Amino acid sequence: MSAPFDRSLTGELAGGPAGDAGQEWAVSPQAGDEERVVESALRPHSLHDFIGQPKVARQLALVLEGAKRRGRAPDHVLLSGPPGLGKTSLALIIGSELGTSVKITSGPAIERSGDLAAMLSNLASGDVLFIDEIHRIARPAEELLYMAMEDFRVDVVVGKGPGATAIPLEINPFTLVGATTRAGLLTGPLRDRFGFVGQMEFYEPAELQLVLARSAELLGVELTPEGSAEIAGRSRGTPRIANRLLRRVRDYAEVEADGRVTRAVAEAALALYDVDHLGLDRLDRAVLEALVAKFGGGPVGVATLAVAVGEEPHTVEEVCEPFLVRAGLLARTPRGRVATEAAWQHLGYPLPRGGVALGRVTVDPHAPGSSSEPLFDA
Ligand SMILES: Nc1ncnc2c1ncn2[C@@H]1O[C@H](COP(=O)(O)OP(=O)(O)OP(=O)(O)O)[C@@H](O)[C@H]1O
Ligand SMILES: [Mg+2]
Repeated sequence: MSAPFDRSLTGELAGGPAGDAGQEWAVSPQAGDEERVVESALRPHSLHDFIGQPKVARQLALVLEGAKRRGRAPDHVLLSGPPGLGKTSLALIIGSELGTSVKITSGPAIERSGDLAAMLSNLASGDVLFIDEIHRIARPAEELLYMAMEDFRVDVVVGKGPGATAIPLEINPFTLVGATTRAGLLTGPLRDRFGFVGQMEFYEPAELQLVLARSAELLGVELTPEGSAEIAGRSRGTPRIANRLLRRVRDYAEVEADGRVTRAVAEAALALYDVDHLGLDRLDRAVLEALVAKFGGGPVGVATLAVAVGEEPHTVEEVCEPFLVRAGLLARTPRGRVATEAAWQHLGYPLPRGGVALGRVTVDPHAPGSSSEPLFDA
């Protein structure tokens, strides 16, 4: 029973190269290199095409329209939220709505502040500069960015040591669009310089069905409403996962059926790819199963749990737990991981006598949500 969760295998099934195993299994919110290419074909190109995120989309539409009417570059925009929810798509849409070009870079790619200065001084008036993963920008570059964002000016330092001089350099007015999956890691001064902050939310199944219908049309796949509901329900609120599952189900439909994605085809295909009704994969279920069956529902430490499923603790912690916690199946408590009542039910186990333990508190199974909130740290 060694290596029960061969991520490279599931990576292959997920359609990507198995190279970076762990990043590309069926329900990973991250995209691999190959997938990014496929994704660009499915990206919405206007706010009108952009599905869901009603609040962010409406507010952004106003910001852009106001700026267009005034004939000025709009405020700098920060888009924050988990992977795969459409931050890059929105950043590109901002450029196309404004009719300007978008220069793309990322925090980790800007190693020296000189690189950033060069990029900024090459921007044409009104251009959009998109910095992905902006929380990973190096500190000197970040400081340069402050002045650029505020005054459209950068100080270029010439020379070294005591003889070094700073030469101010005007740059064209531009709009910075920053994207981050970790808004909490941004420094205060950087965050404060964004005039608009869009917090992306997970998508409702009905919204994911719209995403799927649009993608199916672009891919030339016949998708029934029931088939799309089946996929949407397992997509963890994430358009990237919905699109990936659609591609996998399409393969199945073409090889094993008549090409149409019906509910039965989607169910059979997703069973084959080990994605269950809630969007849990094999490792997610193994973690819950171990917690419930071996440790009586917990609390148990994450290291022990990881050993029980033959995985590294950080994989369990970083890869499985965020969704299990969000789905209300697992709680992180000061004394260890605890399976919630929903987890017992999802796995088909009868609830333990006396209720489900959450930390030290025992919750009456018939009064769900009756309290242990302070114990949750995620
Ligand atoms: N609102 C949407 N409508 C239609 N498709 C969407 C939407 N949001 C995302 N998608 C699809 O999901 C894919 C991933 O979106 P995108 O790359 O914009 O996410 P992201 O938030 O930038 O992710 P990351 O944090 O990994 O960079 C896109 O290729 C696009 O096809
Ligand atoms: Mg992105």
